[in-house]
Amino acid sequence: MRAETCDGDSPHSFDCAQDSSGPLPPVPFLLSRAVIKFWAMRNPPDLRVQLAPRHPRGLILANPVMIAAGIAGYGSEYGEIADIQKLGAIVCKGTTLVPREGNIQPRLVETAGGLLNSVGLENIGVDALIREKAPLWTNWQVPVIVNVAGETINEYVAVASKLEGVAGISGIELNISCPNVSAGGMEFGVDPELAARVTSAVKSVTSLPLIVKLSPNVTDIKEIALAVEGAGADAISLINTLRGMAIDIDQRKPCLGNVVGGLSGPAIKPVALCMVFEAARVVRIPLLGCGGIACAEDALEFIMAGATAVQIGTAALTNPHICLTTLEGIERFMLDREVENVVELIGVARHKP
Ligand code: FUM
Repeated sequence: MRAETCDGDSPHSFDCAQDSSGPLPPVPFLLSRAVIKFWAMRNPPDLRVQLAPRHPRGLILANPVMIAAGIAGYGSEYGEIADIQKLGAIVCKGTTLVPREGNIQPRLVETAGGLLNSVGLENIGVDALIREKAPLWTNWQVPVIVNVAGETINEYVAVASKLEGVAGISGIELNISCPNVSAGGMEFGVDPELAARVTSAVKSVTSLPLIVKLSPNVTDIKEIALAVEGAGADAISLINTLRGMAIDIDQRKPCLGNVVGGLSGPAIKPVALCMVFEAARVVRIPLLGCGGIACAEDALEFIMAGATAVQIGTAALTNPHICLTTLEGIERFMLDREVENVVELIGVARHKP
């Protein structure tokens, strides 16, 4: 499926959401709960979400479960071990103007409840992506979003310009939050003015829906979220990894070749959830929650905090089926509680004391 076209001015609603299931059929008042459940099973809940309600084409996903950037490569390799076509979307590895070899090894260290990485944006470069990967995506049911990274605003703009009009790409995720590069990356995501500048520069050269991925390494996430919304972002994904490190006490030196890395996994889930909750209070564009999500319950927490969709990262490295089981769990939760449309759950926890 490519992104469907749909209008809508509310951040979470879209007209065509009503089309597939239709109104609840008239049922006699005394029909038992079991009968209603039976009806619900024959009419599965509507899981579709709109990620870009302000964009002329919109970006509707079949469901709110995505794979985060850096986990599934370009999708083709991962697709051999998990049915990624059933997911809401996949985000491919951060892509730069020229290929990058990444940082020196070791690049991964496990920590309590988490994973430190310092990959350093190893990638094949945008030209190879367009030549070798995008053609594969044109026949895919699952929309592919390209994560775009860079050292300068000009580099972000150049990558986005090259992606313009390339078949098989449904959106851009602007990576202004990678903590593992010496230039660019997170530098743009910790300063509201720079974040706005790079967002509006890329927005001016792309007709694709633009998602901006924020860094948690800031004092006030609301400030950055508002800055990128004001600069034209269609949606925001948050959070990228938290800067962290580990030391090998036998060798008496840092475990990572690059010394410092980005922490992901269950350890960061409460931080990510809080940042989604805070950002959802101030922006109107959709939020994509990311950070330590490892099951349906986690995903539902993010949705209830205000996320329209969720991205699964680290958990999918050890269990490639985690995205699908998360999706099934969300559906089961909705059936059990007779929630017809996942949109009904977005941000519900924000309205409670
Ligand atoms: O080092 C890396 O490639 C990580 C990228 C990111 O966190 O965005």
